[in-house]
Amino acid sequence: MHFRRARADDAPRIADLHTRSWRAAYRGILPDAFLDGPLLQEKQIHWAAKLPQAQADDFILLAEDGDRLAGFIAVWCNPESKAADPYGNYPGAYVDNIHVAPDGRGRGLGRQLLLKTAEHAQSLPDLDPSLWLWVLTKNARALGFYRALGGEIAETITEPLGGATVETHRLVWTDLAALSAACRT
Ligand SMILES: CC(C)(COP(=O)(O)OP(=O)(O)OC[C@H]1O[C@@H](n2cnc3c(N)ncnc32)[C@H](O)[C@@H]1OP(=O)(O)O)[C@@H](O)C(=O)NCCC(=O)NCCS
Repeated sequence: MHFRRARADDAPRIADLHTRSWRAAYRGILPDAFLDGPLLQEKQIHWAAKLPQAQADDFILLAEDGDRLAGFIAVWCNPESKAADPYGNYPGAYVDNIHVAPDGRGRGLGRQLLLKTAEHAQSLPDLDPSLWLWVLTKNARALGFYRALGGEIAETITEPLGGATVETHRLVWTDLAALSAACRT
């Protein structure tokens, strides 16, 4: 597996994986009409806009297996980048997206992506040394994965998403060294 920071021209590949991952992971959680609708086009627009806005401190990392995009993580660390997200106002590194290709899950790639993120966050002297994300409470696989790595539920909100009202936890890691150690096991 080869890891590298994303470039602006990676937007179509990220959008493709993001869409396939949502369709697999959120089936039964979000409405079929939403998942089977123009999600790919929405993700293409999103990433084409988002990637050029990334600042040096932000961290959008791709995992590639040959030509294949096996996974990615998008983390906003820059205060302006976090402020661009209505749910992003919180100290520390904001993991906006983490996705492993549906046929590659459960083989340790998610842990590697989080480990590299924790190491990146620790390298930024001005960043609160913590990491957080939102996870749908019904996304049992991801929630189990994060909880097994020590993520703590800081709050639970309901929000509209894809034509449904969903419940979402904010999960927080306040000890990045402990998170790194958990990712390495
Ligand atoms: C969540 C996700 C990123 C995790 O990546 P992954 O590569 O599958 O995870 P890893 O193989 O690194 O780690 C799996 C570990 O998580 C833990 N885990 C996974 N599911 C679990 C569950 N339901 N309960 C408890 N622990 C669980 C286990 O410790 C497992 O380790 P093991 O295989 O040695 O038992 C990936 O499954 C994914 O892309 N899911 C779909 C998209 C998504 O939901 N993204 C998150 C949005 S918030």
